[in-house]
Amino acid sequence: MSDAKPIQERTLAEQGAATSEGIAALFAEVRARFDREAAQLTAGDLAAWTALRNSWLGRSSGVINAIGDNWLKPAPPEQKRVVGKLLNELKAHVESTLEELRARAEAAGAAGAAASSGADLSLPGLRRALGTRHPICQTLEELERIFLSIGFSVVEGPEIETPYYNFEALNIPEHHPARDTMDTFYLSLPKGSPELLLRTHTSPMQIHTMERQQPPVRIIVPGRCYRRDNPDSTHSFAFHQIEGLAVDTDITFCEFKGTVEYFVREFLGPKTRTRLRPSYFPFTEPSAEVDASCFACDGKGCRICKHAGWIKLFGSGMVDPAVYGFVNYDAKRISGFAFGMGVERMAMMRYGISDIQLLYQNDVRFLRQFV
Ligand code: PHE
Repeated sequence: MSDAKPIQERTLAEQGAATSEGIAALFAEVRARFDREAAQLTAGDLAAWTALRNSWLGRSSGVINAIGDNWLKPAPPEQKRVVGKLLNELKAHVESTLEELRARAEAAGAAGAAASSGADLSLPGLRRALGTRHPICQTLEELERIFLSIGFSVVEGPEIETPYYNFEALNIPEHHPARDTMDTFYLSLPKGSPELLLRTHTSPMQIHTMERQQPPVRIIVPGRCYRRDNPDSTHSFAFHQIEGLAVDTDITFCEFKGTVEYFVREFLGPKTRTRLRPSYFPFTEPSAEVDASCFACDGKGCRICKHAGWIKLFGSGMVDPAVYGFVNYDAKRISGFAFGMGVERMAMMRYGISDIQLLYQNDVRFLRQFV
C-alpha cells in the first residue's frame, strides 16, 4: 500500500514510529532528502535557492513547519521531548546549509556577472597608488619628534581668534605698529557681534595655555595661520607655524639658548652653528632672531644665504613679564622663553625647496620627491 502524501504530512502514529529509533530514522530520511536537494542547487542560481528555502523553511508550506504540525504537535507527551530535539537539530541543519549556499550563490552570481560582462577575473587588480605624507606634514612630525624628546608636549588651538588673544594679551595694544604686519583677515559678522579674525600666528595659544594651567609649562603648538600677504616665493596667505613655550621657576636665558641650539643641531645636522640676533616682539624681552649657519656653504657665504653665511630660522625670546600679567602668573617667581617658527620655511631649508608655492600646488611630480 503506497501513500502519496509525503512523510512530513503524516503523523508519527500513522507511520508506525513509536520508538526513539523509529523517530530518528524518519528524521534521517527527511534530512537526507534535504541534503540531496541542496546538492542539486546550481551555484549562482538565486531563484533556485529561494525556492529551496521556501519549500523547507516557508511558513505555510515548508517541510520544517509541517513536521512541527504533524509530528510534534500530535505526539504523545513521552515522545515530545525526542521529537522536539530532533526537529530543532534538523531545522538548525537546514538553516545553516541554506545560509552557506546563499553566500556561495551570491559570490558565484557576482563572478558570473563579471564573466558575462567580459571582465577577466584572472587579471591582476587595479592597484591604487598609495599616497605619501606631504613635506609640510613630514616636517611638522620631525619638529614634534625633536621637542617631544626633550619634554615638550603638543597642544592645538583654534584658527579663529579674538583680537584679545591674537594681540592684546600678547602685549600688542590696538594702535601698536607691530599690528601692521599682521592686520589681517577679519570675519564678516552681523553688526554688533564681537570681532573675530583668522589667527596671524600660533602665539595666542601661549595665552590660552597659561590661562588653563599653572607652571611648569612646556608646550609646542603646531597649526595653520593666516596673513594678508601676497603670494610669492616666500609668502603665502595661509601657512603653518609651530609655537614653543616653556615657563617654570628656574628658566634662564641659558636654558633658552641651550634648547634652541639643541633643536637646530637635531633638525639641520650636528655641525650646524646657531646665532642669536637681537630683535623685537612685543611679547618677548629680550627678543632674538635665531639664525643657523648656511647648510649649503657652511657659513662661507653663497647664493643661498645671500653671502651672509647665515640663514634666518625663527623669532624667539624670553617671555615679556607684561604677558604674565594677562594670565595671572606671578612674574616675580617665574620666567620662560618662547619661539615661533614657520613650518614651510623649515621644510624649504631642510629639503632645499626654493618656492613656497610648490608646497601648495599638489603637483605629484613635486610631491613624489619626498616619499
Ligand atoms: N609670533 C611671532 C611671529 O609670528 C613669532 C614669535 C613667537 C616670536 C614666539 C617670539 C616668540 O612672528
